[in-house]
Amino acid sequence: MTPQRFPCEVAVWRILPTIRSEIAKQLASLGLPQIVISTRLGITQPAVSQYVTKKRGMTFTVSDEAQRLIQSLAEDVANEKDLNLNERMCEICTNIQGTDKCTSEPESMIDRLNKLKEANDAVILAHNYQRAEVQDAADYVGDSFELSKIASELDCSTIVFCGVDFMAEIAAILSPEKTVLLPVKEAMCPMSRMIGRNDVQQLKKRYPGAPVVCYVNTSAEVKAECDVCCTSANAIKIINELDADRILFIPDRNLGDYLASKTDKEIVSWDGFCPTHQMITLGDVLIKRQEQPDCEIVVHPECRPEVIAAADYVYGTGGMLRHAARSNARHIAIGTEVGMLHRLATQEPNKEFSALANAICPNMKRTTLEDAISALEQKKHRVTVPEDVRKGAKKALDKMLEIGV
Ligand code: 13P
Ligand code: SF4
Repeated sequence: MTPQRFPCEVAVWRILPTIRSEIAKQLASLGLPQIVISTRLGITQPAVSQYVTKKRGMTFTVSDEAQRLIQSLAEDVANEKDLNLNERMCEICTNIQGTDKCTSEPESMIDRLNKLKEANDAVILAHNYQRAEVQDAADYVGDSFELSKIASELDCSTIVFCGVDFMAEIAAILSPEKTVLLPVKEAMCPMSRMIGRNDVQQLKKRYPGAPVVCYVNTSAEVKAECDVCCTSANAIKIINELDADRILFIPDRNLGDYLASKTDKEIVSWDGFCPTHQMITLGDVLIKRQEQPDCEIVVHPECRPEVIAAADYVYGTGGMLRHAARSNARHIAIGTEVGMLHRLATQEPNKEFSALANAICPNMKRTTLEDAISALEQKKHRVTVPEDVRKGAKKALDKMLEIGV
């Protein structure tokens, strides 16, 4: 068969989704669930579904050799081999085009993203847990507090929030005049769904007069019921600033326990948790200590209490970065979502980092660079908050920003 030829730029742009589509179809025929396929290929679940049902992806004739390469790549992806997906797709892409040199996908995507940013007066924000290529393409990468603050101060018309739903919602609450886009609608934080507005109302009835401190990982409706928000970067400070001996803390029980150990106040915690941080166990800490006795262990306060007790330091993601900059340790092991490894390695290239466990937040990993581009191209998915809820939630967020870190 004669391979079809396109001008190179266009070819890369069109062929790479086609290759993904082919691999997705082959993986689906092996019985792999959509969530697994989407994680392994770095695409969203709706994209997988559209590829598999042939609603998306341009199909065209490819040579037998390209077909063989696609099949072997699908096998390697199915077998979870350690591979460079972009490099392998470029190999197939050049084969399809009949050229011996590929225009690199990330570069042409970055060019496209930059053009769209300029045309839309847009800024890209990415949380520290985002995929490496998304972090690298973003204008700002940070923790929940830093991103909230940046979102409140930005001078632009559009914010593309590469993170999870509550983060984009915070940007929409603080800057209602801006267009806030969440590239993947399904990117949500499961912990934020573990408490609803009625639950907070009931809790307040049970403990009349006690202030409610709400972790930012909550919906706007829940925030609107609370006195003040906090993130892992400022939770201790916020608790200590409040003129009350008893504090109602929602929704993370692990962070609540950690706060109770750091203040003299009574902390009544909700029973929510982060499934990703819950995966990290005491056994992971003990194994790391045995394998690398000289390494420092730094964990996120969303971890289990026994993990926190066994660690050397406890910080949110921004605190981890600051700690890595000042620490003399040659090797730091982190107990948090693995996206932090890229962030740390980029900031501290001369230090070594490892993860206590392969803790992946599937929601944080949903957004690909392709999704950020589509978000700007198609102005999706716009996040808005009803005005009455927004006003209440803004009060709790403003109070947090006023207290600071
Ligand atoms: P921080 O980046 O604020 O530490 O938050 C961690 C987190 O889980 C966000 O979802
Ligand atoms: Fe939510 Fe945990 Fe994912 Fe953060 S890492 S978004 S808390 S599930």
